Amino acid sequence: MVSLFSIFCLFLTFVVFSRLLYKLWLGPIRMQQKLQSQGLKGPSYKFLHGNTKEIISMRKEAIKAPSDLGQHDLFPRLLPHLNTWMKLYGNNFLIWIGNQPQIVVTEPELVKEILTDREGVYLKIKPVSHLKKLLGDGIVVAEGEKWSRLRKLANHAFHGESLKDMVSAMIESVDTMLERWRYHEGKEIEVSKEFKLLTSDVISRTAFGSSYVEGKNIFDMVGKLGVLIAKNAFRIRLFGLEKIWKSKDDIESDKIERSLRDSILSLVKKREDKVKAGESDNFGSDFLGSLLKVHHDIDPKSRISVGDVVDECKVFYIAGHETTSTLLSWVVFLLSLYTEWQEKAREEVVQIFGKGKPTAEGIARLKILAMIVNEALRLYSPVLSINRRVHRKIKFGKYEIPANVQVSIPILAQHRNPEIWGKDAHMFKPERFAEGLANAANGNSMAFLPFVAGPRSCVGNNFAVNEAKITLTMILQRYRLALSPNYVHAPYQFLTLQPQHGVQIILHLL
Ligand code: HEM
Repeated sequence: MVSLFSIFCLFLTFVVFSRLLYKLWLGPIRMQQKLQSQGLKGPSYKFLHGNTKEIISMRKEAIKAPSDLGQHDLFPRLLPHLNTWMKLYGNNFLIWIGNQPQIVVTEPELVKEILTDREGVYLKIKPVSHLKKLLGDGIVVAEGEKWSRLRKLANHAFHGESLKDMVSAMIESVDTMLERWRYHEGKEIEVSKEFKLLTSDVISRTAFGSSYVEGKNIFDMVGKLGVLIAKNAFRIRLFGLEKIWKSKDDIESDKIERSLRDSILSLVKKREDKVKAGESDNFGSDFLGSLLKVHHDIDPKSRISVGDVVDECKVFYIAGHETTSTLLSWVVFLLSLYTEWQEKAREEVVQIFGKGKPTAEGIARLKILAMIVNEALRLYSPVLSINRRVHRKIKFGKYEIPANVQVSIPILAQHRNPEIWGKDAHMFKPERFAEGLANAANGNSMAFLPFVAGPRSCVGNNFAVNEAKITLTMILQRYRLALSPNYVHAPYQFLTLQPQHGVQIILHLL
């Protein structure tokens, strides 16, 4: 006789199986039909993987061989799937990351709608797994009231007068780097590693009142988590099973997360101890100091938790150096390739500063260097694309989009659009920025998005550009840069856009 227990087990199996079937097959197929009927076409959904297998293989194939030196159209190399599908399905189309539908949006009006949203319709995607361990619930992912408070703190620390006060710390870090460069004069140097050290030192000094050496442990761990994130970017996750069934990488990242937290807490404790011991009457005027001030606010409602302090520190350790070092590597590559622009930039630098140290006032007058940096950010945007999730059912242009669909904006696609930038969109022409951003982009406010736009735009934008200009100024004052014959042009994505084999430069002392 069939026992009640067996019936229960059978019923349970049926329920689990139907849920799985709905989540992995019927749901996506229905969603695909619904969106397709409105004109949102795209590659068809495949069971469990969506389009991830095609994406991975197209991306692998596209970066197999290096590019030509003058080849700056990176869209087909780095996002080959989007390049192919855009041609097949138009400016906006539907793709599947596992069973998650994602609408790729390139139409400027729709891009604007997403980026300028202030109603909380397009929200940040909640990070999972390794990425969650890196970003926690900090400013990059927070929403609403919490985000506003964190953003105000960061705005204060990285803008206006605070930025001016950071110039001397930035100069000190560049001086330390250039001291190392003395041993490479007349010889080759791989600059991307150098810029990673430099930007790590700059964010350590300016935001956390320590040097790179003190923060080294934190950068090492952040770097290791980055490797795990990149390695598992397209891993299929089902119903949070990884919480019970941990892979080797999950166990490793748990460990890293714990020691990252401990390292940051010891930085925090050092500051707190100074105040407790009466050695200082405040927590400091840098970013860490302002976080601690709010953490210890007498009004409990205004306080942020110690977890928030740790998350913010992690975010700024990573966001504060990775992207800027990438930018510097690409600018130096371009200046070594287009030596006439290197000369123009040097002339301007010498005219403004002579052989002296850069100043906040002089940096603002570097027009040629600003044009070069902008052109590098356009062609070699460190962040390739950004994603959001639709919070509730919405009317989006001519489409009706249900909640929980994701939207993705490939920044690279905007940056090489010939309708905006002209037929020479893929060429290095800093002169396009001579009359300002709006003119360069034909009046299109959503065409130049290295830092994105709108309320969630990069809070470190001015900090990064200032840091880049100071570094380039000091390099150009001392060296003529030539591209080494050993350089291989292989831009690839490792979280940000990186030179796969580094950037080898010969340093000629002026
Ligand atoms: C060339 C350098 C940089 C580039 C290209 C860059 C790019 C970006 C982009 C594209 C975003 C938007 C991400 C999204 O919407 O999903 C962003 C956000 C952010 N960036 Fe940067 N960034 C750079 C440097 C920095 C620096 C130096 C810092 C810190 C000092 C920083 C801190 C942040 C933070 C905290 C956010 C989140 C802002 C928010 O959500 O309110 N970034 N960045």
